[in-house]
Amino acid sequence: MSRALKYTKPLVFLHGFPLDKRMWRQQIEKLSPHVRALAINLGRFGTKTPPGETKTSIKAMADEVACFLDEGNITDPVALCGLSMGGYVALRFAHDYPSRLDKLILANTRSLPDNEAARAKRNDLRKRLAEGERQQVLKELMKPMLVSGSPAAKEMQHIADEQSTEIIRSALEALRDREDATPWLSEIKVPTLVISGAKDTVIPSSEGAEMAKKIPSGQFAELPDAAHLSNVDRPEAFNKLILDFLTTRGG
Ligand code: MLT
Repeated sequence: MSRALKYTKPLVFLHGFPLDKRMWRQQIEKLSPHVRALAINLGRFGTKTPPGETKTSIKAMADEVACFLDEGNITDPVALCGLSMGGYVALRFAHDYPSRLDKLILANTRSLPDNEAARAKRNDLRKRLAEGERQQVLKELMKPMLVSGSPAAKEMQHIADEQSTEIIRSALEALRDREDATPWLSEIKVPTLVISGAKDTVIPSSEGAEMAKKIPSGQFAELPDAAHLSNVDRPEAFNKLILDFLTTRGG
C-alpha cells in the first residue's frame, strides 16, 4: 500500500475465537504507516498459563477494551475493528462506551445471539475439552476459518493451539451466553463498515448485509474468495477497505 493516506486516531483490532491478537499481523504490519494500529488480547487469550479466574463475558471483554484505552492514555474516540467474537465485543463496546468511538468496523460477525442449536454445540465443545479432546476440538474450530488450501492455515492453527484449554472453555461460555445486540444497531451513531467473506460458512455474508442495513450510517462490503478470517484470506483487499473507510470523510 503506497498511498500516504492517514487516519489520525488510533485503530484498535479485536480478535476472533479461539485466537489472539496475532491474527492481525498483516493489518498491523501493512497499515502502520497510515494509522496507529493496535491489537488487544481479549479474555486472557494470548496468555499461556492464566493466573487465577478465567471466567469472562462479552461485556467483560468490552470493559477490557476501555481499560486498555485508559492505560494507554487514549482519551479521544478511536476506530474499532472487531472480527467475529471481536465483533461481538465491538458491538458491546459501541453500546456501553458510545462516546469513545469514532468509527466502527464489524468483520465476519453478527448481532444475533446463539440459538438453541449453537448453545448446545458450545456445551458439547466445552464437555469434549474437559474430557481431553483438545486437539480434535481445535482442529474442528479452525477448519472453516480460511479458504481451503490457504497458505496461512498453519500460522492460524499454531495460534489456536497455543491457547489454554481453560481460556477456550471460558470463552465458549461467554459466546454461548452473549446478549442479542440487534436492538443496539439502530443506536450506533458512528460511520460503520460491515465486512463479510463471500465464502464464510460460519457467519454467512447475507447476515452481514442485513446487519449493515440496520445501522444508520452502515455500509457493507463483501470480499470474494474470503472465508471466516477474511482479514487473513484477503489481507490486501481487507486493508484497502479499512483504509478507504477510515480516510473518507463521514466514513
Ligand atoms: C470467532 O471466529 O470468533 C467465532 O467463530 C465466533 C463464534 O463462534 O461465535
